[in-house]
Amino acid sequence: MKSFYIETYGCQMNLSDSESIAGILESAGMQAVAAPEEADLIIINTCTVRESAVSRVRAQISRFKPMRAKRKVKIAVAGCLAQQEKEALFKSLPVDYVIGPDHYAFLTELLKEKRACRAEEASRRDFYSEFPRKRKKGVNTWVPIMRGCDNFCSYCIVPVVRGREMSRPAEDVFRDIEEAVGEGFPEITLLGQNVNSYRNGGLDFPALLRKTIEIRGLKRLRFMTSHPKDLSDSLIRCYGEVPALCEFLHLPVQSGSNSVLARMNRGYTRESYLTVVDKLRKRVPDMALSTDILCGFPGETEQDHTATLALVKEVEFDSAFMFVFSPRTGTAAAGMEPQVERGVKVARVKEVIAAQMEITGRKNRACIGRTMEVLVEGPSPRDPAEVTSRTRTFKNVILQGNKTPAGAFLNVKITGSSGWALQGEPCERERSKPCG
Ligand code: SAH
Ligand code: SF4
Ligand code: F3S
Repeated sequence: MKSFYIETYGCQMNLSDSESIAGILESAGMQAVAAPEEADLIIINTCTVRESAVSRVRAQISRFKPMRAKRKVKIAVAGCLAQQEKEALFKSLPVDYVIGPDHYAFLTELLKEKRACRAEEASRRDFYSEFPRKRKKGVNTWVPIMRGCDNFCSYCIVPVVRGREMSRPAEDVFRDIEEAVGEGFPEITLLGQNVNSYRNGGLDFPALLRKTIEIRGLKRLRFMTSHPKDLSDSLIRCYGEVPALCEFLHLPVQSGSNSVLARMNRGYTRESYLTVVDKLRKRVPDMALSTDILCGFPGETEQDHTATLALVKEVEFDSAFMFVFSPRTGTAAAGMEPQVERGVKVARVKEVIAAQMEITGRKNRACIGRTMEVLVEGPSPRDPAEVTSRTRTFKNVILQGNKTPAGAFLNVKITGSSGWALQGEPCERERSKPCG
């Protein structure tokens, strides 16, 4: 097999893993191609966090069936579904290899054996630090700092498929950041399911963030995901102390009801969450916050739902990802009674989405007239006559009639807002040369 094509589903962790997979295959002499039709090997990196993600992945894999029958292209299923279903996938899908997230170091050996590999045959917990990463082009790149999760939120399959939490050695993290900055990436996002519990040789997460100050050329630093129960005062103090650290935080709250939060095993209350938000805003008045909300958790009453809506309105998040609870086999919540009826779950999520859209719109309108620093991401996929850019607070700003290359920092005046995005106009000369 000479060429490969990767399709990625799920979270940033999977996007980052796909870069490792590409690096591993390229260092074995294979070449990445842009279309499945040109590939000898198609890899689908999968997600299993919600049933909708699984159905989508299954449909996508099935569409390769005729191609596989006709020209002997091999299909590999990687990622979280591979880890969860293991060899059962061979029966239900047109698949040649099944390989979970901890086994990519063995990828090339498995491919040589010309047989279907079973995910549980190899087991090595790994960050693939010894392999070159094939980073996706752009202005932002990911640096994984942790794998797995020990939190066992009762609804979540991630600890089951990704295994126990482990922190990546700090020297590998710094080498990776320096390498990415050297490649021209001005913005880095540190990745882990709960970065707040990072610990390696006496270095905790705030200490890791502070040490990045030494890395020259790192302009913007982000991280995700932060668990509210572990967000320390020391981390909050990093805002302002670490100049590259952007004034944006994704802080998933999931629910505004204490009884639901307890049954979710989240380890914080509505009140302690609000206290953390308060501290963050005291430290950084312009802090932008995003969150995840889960609607229709088992036993969620109308009162619980109202508490979630009230919390959304009280905090005024800048944006939110809002989901309907999906029971996952192997998690505690899948067996909890009573499950909320689908129609009720959907109605509740719609209500939360409507409330959040109103807040996002209002907050975006409040930006009009302000001057903000943006990092240009490149031509807009919608219209080549405009470029897209992002503020440090992660707001998307469209610059019309502008051809500034990706990687440049500009100061822009916000002139308008529509839906989730802002419009702006550069208000001074380009501040720095484009990177990379
Ligand atoms: N580690 C991160 C995110 C993990 S999954 C965290 O702790 O927040 C991303 C989001 O998917 C979660 O925040 C949750 O809102 C949602 N999610 C997880 N399991 C789910 C399920 N069974 N049904 C619906 N949404 C789910
Ligand atoms: Fe899932 Fe909770 Fe771990 Fe996030 S912290 S990955 S929601 S178990
Ligand atoms: Fe991510 Fe989905 Fe796996 S959210 S960790 S790709 S189950």
